[in-house]
Amino acid sequence: LAYDNRDGQWRSRDDIPPKHRRPALDPEEVDDLLDRGAPLPEWHTPPAVAREMIRARPPRRQRGLVLFFTGLSGSGKSTMARGVVETLLETGERTVTLMDGDVVRRHLSAGLGFSAIDRDINVRRIGWVAAEVARHGGMAVCCPIAPYEAARKAAHDFARAAGAGFILIWVNTPLAECERRDRKGLYAKARAGQIKGMTGIDDPYEIPASPDLTIDTTDLPGGEAIATVLRYLGANGWIDPRQATEKRAQAPSA
Ligand code: ADX
Repeated sequence: LAYDNRDGQWRSRDDIPPKHRRPALDPEEVDDLLDRGAPLPEWHTPPAVAREMIRARPPRRQRGLVLFFTGLSGSGKSTMARGVVETLLETGERTVTLMDGDVVRRHLSAGLGFSAIDRDINVRRIGWVAAEVARHGGMAVCCPIAPYEAARKAAHDFARAAGAGFILIWVNTPLAECERRDRKGLYAKARAGQIKGMTGIDDPYEIPASPDLTIDTTDLPGGEAIATVLRYLGANGWIDPRQATEKRAQAPSA
């Protein structure tokens, strides 16, 4: 079927002269309009139907989102996550919950260690809570090491099952740079054999198979790394692109 411009009826496309014929939008085009919050054309979708479709698939700027940073200790995950959260709190356009790795381990995951099983439980818990935040339109920003693909996948699936978006950012700052920074002195201890099972030294980090964004912070000033994430969110319709970059430009660099 196609829309006939002459009388506003839908009929077999072959019965409509080409210059009066409007083919139906394909499902991807409809999804894209809904994601961007653009109106569905009235000739295509009656307003009452459009309202239901918007309810089922709200624009990304109103939809819940889990922003999940993964990477080695010292890679810059927390700094970026905090910077993104600060900017969004300032613009006020989204409600944001920060689930910092160290804070999570003090509360939500108190008592867990760094065995593969404990890390798996830790990351699944983070993913589950993040999805609950996002279920109601909030944005959850998480930044655990999350060294295992399976647990990252679980976090992704929790978010999608809650009707939210999920963005995986791989902070792939190389080990040498993380070790050079060694803010917590843990790498030195691991090298000296004082702690066992340090990610990157004697514990695995599985490289993400399909991150949405990859950022190496080695030569990147903090503010620039944060701006990269904000630009990505803006370009993909998750936040207002202008507001985020303007606020970021005014804020002192992290
Ligand atoms: S995860 O593997 O379960 O995702 P998480 O991000 O919560 O790790 O915790 C990592 C933080 O715990 C590191 O930033 C570091 O400060 C601390 N830590 C303590 N022991 C280890 C270890 N063996 N491996 C990695 N990080 C450790």
